[in-house]
Amino acid sequence: MNEAVTMPISGIRPYQLSLSSRERAALKLQRPRCLWLTGLSGAGKSTLANALELQLNQLGLHTFVLDGDNLRAGLCRDLGMGDESRKENIRRMAEVARLMVDAGLIVIVAAISPFRAEREVARRLFAEGDFIEVYVSTPFAVCAQRDPKGLYQAAREGRLKDFTGIDSPYEAPLCAECEIDTQALEMREACQRLAAFLINK
Ligand code: ADX
Repeated sequence: MNEAVTMPISGIRPYQLSLSSRERAALKLQRPRCLWLTGLSGAGKSTLANALELQLNQLGLHTFVLDGDNLRAGLCRDLGMGDESRKENIRRMAEVARLMVDAGLIVIVAAISPFRAEREVARRLFAEGDFIEVYVSTPFAVCAQRDPKGLYQAAREGRLKDFTGIDSPYEAPLCAECEIDTQALEMREACQRLAAFLINK
């Protein structure tokens, strides 16, 4: 990343907009929130986010999914898989999610987001209760066996470096608001559990 991007600029003062996030969301009859799905590659985060979005949409709720792989095709395409890149990836996803929550949306983030500290930084961007951490806790062995993209195989054979759970760490949440193990739970049930959690809160 070049210096022009990383150097903070002094003299920037956020302009206080008159309309609040709550007022924007009131038009949609919903409470904007960020559901942050974290877990290993292959844990089922994207599938769950996708199914949950469909379900919430059918309930008349206005959502958006920020998926790690999708953002890495655009906004985050300059980032690799080293620790610093992943931290920056989480930071960008969190900032975009925050803007979307400010716009009144229910945002579902699906990203490995392996570092506890960075997820905490993300949480602090949101008002109390607006950030819901969901640990998609499907065990490593199950993810590695599913291996939907052949990445575990590639990492084992040394063709892919810095792979989460193999030669790059994953720090599981210590107190996530919600935990879903997609091995133990049917996707439909997992999704209903999350939707219920969101609606009851
Ligand atoms: S994160 O760690 O920075 O949060 P993110 O969720 O955006 O990761 O992207 C992970 C996706 O990148 C995986 O779904 C997988 O398809 C792909 N990928 C490519 N290389 C790796 C790697 N070394 N470790 C993990 N995922 C990888």
